[in-house]
Amino acid sequence: MANKKSIFVCQSCGSQAPKWSGRCGDCGQWNTLVEERVGTQKQSSQSPAIRAEVLDRVRDWSDVEDVAVTARAKTGIAELDRVLGGGLVPASLVLLGGEPGIGKSTLLLQLMGSLCSKGLSGLYASGEESAGQIASRARRLKLDPSNGFSLLPTSSFDELELVFAEKKPQVLVLDSIQTFSVENLDSAAGTVGQVREITHRMMRLCKESGCIGVLVGHVTKEGNVAGPKLLEHMVDAVFYFEMSASQGYRLLRAQKNRFGATHEVAVFEMLGTGLVEVPNPSARFLEERAQGTSGSSLISQLEGSRSMITEFQALSMRAHQGYPRRTVQGIDQNRISVLLAVLDRTLDTDFANRDVFCKVASGHFIEDPAADLGVAVALLSSLWQEALPEDAMFLGELGLGGELRSVPGLGARIAEAQGVGVERLFVPQAMLREESAKGAKIKLIGLKNLKEILKWLKPRRVKENDPKAANPVDLNF
Ligand code: TYD
Ligand code: MG
Repeated sequence: MANKKSIFVCQSCGSQAPKWSGRCGDCGQWNTLVEERVGTQKQSSQSPAIRAEVLDRVRDWSDVEDVAVTARAKTGIAELDRVLGGGLVPASLVLLGGEPGIGKSTLLLQLMGSLCSKGLSGLYASGEESAGQIASRARRLKLDPSNGFSLLPTSSFDELELVFAEKKPQVLVLDSIQTFSVENLDSAAGTVGQVREITHRMMRLCKESGCIGVLVGHVTKEGNVAGPKLLEHMVDAVFYFEMSASQGYRLLRAQKNRFGATHEVAVFEMLGTGLVEVPNPSARFLEERAQGTSGSSLISQLEGSRSMITEFQALSMRAHQGYPRRTVQGIDQNRISVLLAVLDRTLDTDFANRDVFCKVASGHFIEDPAADLGVAVALLSSLWQEALPEDAMFLGELGLGGELRSVPGLGARIAEAQGVGVERLFVPQAMLREESAKGAKIKLIGLKNLKEILKWLKPRRVKENDPKAANPVDLNF
């Protein structure tokens, strides 16, 4: 062991220390230092041949050609292509993270099948499943056997490099980084040292050969890819696969993408024959919308460049005892409290004495402030026991004084609203000046503040003597 020395690597932040200690000096986590033995032999960078080669690599930027981003390989899976920013870029390394069982291996097998049907050659290296298991899944997914790719069940990265040199694939999948190890490190698979070394070598394979590399990474219970952030820093793009809160949709999000936009979302559904794209999720979310019921409105949430429309439901009843209840699902309870206070103050409603129950019907968690107005009118509709017009949608952020503020992404929201049959879209007045408002195919109605909504929505029947009915709203303010 003369040429090996020990270092201690923090499994949380990746920092190195020459001595073991109970607590990492950098990130302050306890019990995260793990011993790793590393070879100390290094090629001298002083040798004339190496010097010449290094100096040869330094060039003026204007002499260097662009990365061939135009040569993106379209995956053939439209939702995936959109999140990737138009396809996979040759000589890039992508990380796909997600919890066990979410469908990472399934997605990559489908991706491999699709790319190979376009004539690319592929190598699928798995440290998790045997060749038989992968093959039977590929058959279940009905991949075309004439567009073959090679399977390599191994957990040794050195073996993978050997096969890579021989087969020279154009697409390489490594499933998963936590199960692979390199021989020259003594530490176990999945430790920071191994993860770093494999990512590094994988990067080199891809950059040198022009191969598209995809790494699978498991996420920890904190939601990070196991191992420190270092993995995410090293790769070209990071995508996360996660389950939507209900209905079992799988959402693929870009977290980092050196070749495209982030914050895009793709929606998939896991069926018996693998992952199927859901191209119009809003229509799906609204399929079971109750018609003609009070307290229901449409709200729009922006996810990347895509807008998703879901149903918001509110129920308000006179509180019978003590402190009125606020039971809220799918949206921040404090936000509901603020909106109720704004409604009481601006429209003289009496939510302060009423129980309020709220729910986002699709199981989404709504964070977009653009939902404020939709939530407010759903609350009013429940109070008045009057259904809102079915062809109308309300959009805008509400200020504490009841004023309406613009929100981003009007173009995407209009397009999505049109797709689900909305004919009238109520928006903050200032948004009517936007370019996408001028060319809109649906009717846009501008509102300056919450009070103006009463020009359009009025309680038609107010059963003043009915104790179950809503409190009448004074319209002569
Ligand atoms: P998998 O891709 O193995 O998940 P990961 O690689 O992220 O751990 O997918 C796991 C789940 O998907 C598994 O529970 C079975 C289910 N599944 C289907 O429902 N239909 C299918 O066609 C396939 C291949 C998997
Ligand atoms: Mg898997």
